[in-house]
Amino acid sequence: MDAIEVLKKRRSIRVFQQKPILKDQLEAVVDAGRFAPTARNLQPWEFVIITQKRVLSEIAKLAENGRFIQDCAACIAVFSSDTKYYLEDGCAATVNMLNAAAALGIGSCWVAGDKKSYCQDISRILNAKNNLKLVSLIALGYPKEDGAFGIVEKKRLGEILHWEKF
Ligand SMILES: Cc1cc2nc3c(=O)[nH]c(=O)nc-3n(C[C@H](O)[C@H](O)[C@H](O)COP(=O)(O)O)c2cc1C
Repeated sequence: MDAIEVLKKRRSIRVFQQKPILKDQLEAVVDAGRFAPTARNLQPWEFVIITQKRVLSEIAKLAENGRFIQDCAACIAVFSSDTKYYLEDGCAATVNMLNAAAALGIGSCWVAGDKKSYCQDISRILNAKNNLKLVSLIALGYPKEDGAFGIVEKKRLGEILHWEKF
């Protein structure tokens, strides 16, 4: 798939096969995250790959809109140190990883981190240092239905694109 095809085909996946994801593939996803653009090139991010069922369950219990983390093959916790643009930087890395996963045939879903009351608890579970903020959680796994990515409606280009001025 070329890059634009991947961007258009990626969809949030919340139901996964039990099949594990190879370590190399998980590292390839995170590796794509570190190539994201970052304000003043600070690269404030750090990533934790979680594959242990026990820890996935603990996270799933805390993340009220991410219960499916319990059944994913792996979860990437995206942290940023507390810089001015920590959130934008962490989000840019998150999007890179979602798209990298899609390119590798791995389903993913962004689960909210920043602004959520469970951030502190999840940071504690993962032994994160105090200066790190949890930006997002990425649930990963092979999609349940035969590799078919689920579909949500996207606004049409004509609704949101304005040339030169509104
Ligand atoms: C900042 C942010 C937070 C999100 N948090 C959650 C979440 O907690 N749980 C969830 O199931 N999906 C979450 N999502 C995924 C969105 O629901 C999803 O991207 C949206 O419905 C569009 O669907 P698509 O990803 O298939 O294009 C989040 C997405 C973003 C960008």
